[in-house]
Amino acid sequence: MMRTRPLKVALLGCGVVGSEVARIMTTHADDLAARIGAPVELAGVAVRRPDKVRGGIDPALITTDATALVKRGDIDVVVEVIGGIEPARALITTAFEHGASVVSANKALLAQDGATLYAAAERHGQDLYYEAAVAGAIPLIRPLRESLAGDKINRVMGIVNGTTNFILDKMDSTGAGYQEALDEATALGYAEADPTADVEGFDAAAKAAILAGIAFHTRVRLDDVYREGMTEVTAADFASARQMGCTIKLLAICERAADGESVTARVHPAMIPLSHPLASVREAYNAVFVEAEAAGQLMFYGPGAGGSPTASAVLGDVVAVCRNRLNEATGPGESAYTQLPVSPMGDVVTRYHISLDVADKPGVLAQVATVFAEHGVSIDTVRQHGRQDGGGEASLVVVTHRAPDAALSGTVEALRKLDTVRGVASIMRVEGE
Ligand code: NDP
Ligand code: HSE
Repeated sequence: MMRTRPLKVALLGCGVVGSEVARIMTTHADDLAARIGAPVELAGVAVRRPDKVRGGIDPALITTDATALVKRGDIDVVVEVIGGIEPARALITTAFEHGASVVSANKALLAQDGATLYAAAERHGQDLYYEAAVAGAIPLIRPLRESLAGDKINRVMGIVNGTTNFILDKMDSTGAGYQEALDEATALGYAEADPTADVEGFDAAAKAAILAGIAFHTRVRLDDVYREGMTEVTAADFASARQMGCTIKLLAICERAADGESVTARVHPAMIPLSHPLASVREAYNAVFVEAEAAGQLMFYGPGAGGSPTASAVLGDVVAVCRNRLNEATGPGESAYTQLPVSPMGDVVTRYHISLDVADKPGVLAQVATVFAEHGVSIDTVRQHGRQDGGGEASLVVVTHRAPDAALSGTVEALRKLDTVRGVASIMRVEGE
């Protein structure tokens, strides 16, 4: 039976995502009402610039006083799509205090201080949903939080940043350099004017923290995530990757240790075999590969950014929260009961692809191999190309077997100290085999 009294939604932010949330709420109002069992009404829209023209939105709903909006007392759901830490955090906690549930797309805040938000939601008996915070439109948080709640997840590995995937894909498919590919991403509106959060891996690291926390039922914060951006990846790296039957992706990888006693979370560029499902993720798409004990391997794929795809995820949460309210129930809260520690990057077991410029003379290969052996790192393959420029140098590419990252980085440090090693041209991890 349809309730006639509407559920009231306050929209905080009306930019790329918020404007699409408002549009879909308005154009799909009847369907949303039928699915929820009550009409949903946009009760107010908080923005920074009230005079900006916002098509399709009643100007009477616009306010610059977001705090007053969330304090009204008659709001059922606050949708936070402002972004950043403050005032978003204060507005969300105030919303809970005043009897509203919250839907947010704010990965930065959830990764930095999700525990505070969860605690406030629980204290006030409200919902906190955030499907849009990771991988845009792709249903991922709910599958991890609910559908896989009966399983044991051991690994989550994915491409969770569309901008960097677009850049790497262009470099791979056209041979473009990093700057050229970034310029194209900017021209097409994928990269922001300041692309630092994307290209330096901060955005992906925030998403990795959220995914690891949910997957392993423990608390993982942004600072726990090892992070390397992708600005140093070169056309030569792609050429090297191709020789190995690989491509290069910026990956977010969250793993449970083999002994089950700790977890790790990291973001860095890595070579992956062309046969791996993540290798075929092109342009600005996202994809996340989940390995669970009973379910096996699952892959989630789709648009990871953009106003309309992200609004789809936000509205899915709005519907879920509204249904919960009508049933006088709440959805799942924080699940951090395992309290597993997050291990440092040095403990991660991985493989390295190392490209060295070495002196082309007898004994050098043996010298290099000795350094690997001294650090307990086993070599898988070695490729050497003598240079034709008469400089007496050669390029040496070494791919290792799996070893702790600390041993691998110790090896590289020792290699740099050899007189016969003129330079370390590139180091990249190899994943997905
Ligand atoms: P925008 O910058 O496009 O929009 C931000 C909105 O917040 C604007 O409407 C702005 O007002 C408003 N705003 C800023 N500060 C305040 C304030 N103090 N009080 C009230 N309103 C304020 O951001 P996006 O829509 O791109 O992103 C929103 C959130 O969604 C972020 O957390 C982001 O990480 C997340 N997200 C975004 C995705 C995307 O593809 N864009 C994908 C997935 C998640 P005004 O319009 O007046 O400037
Ligand atoms: N800047 C992000 C990306 C937006 O490129 O994926 C989605 O979180």
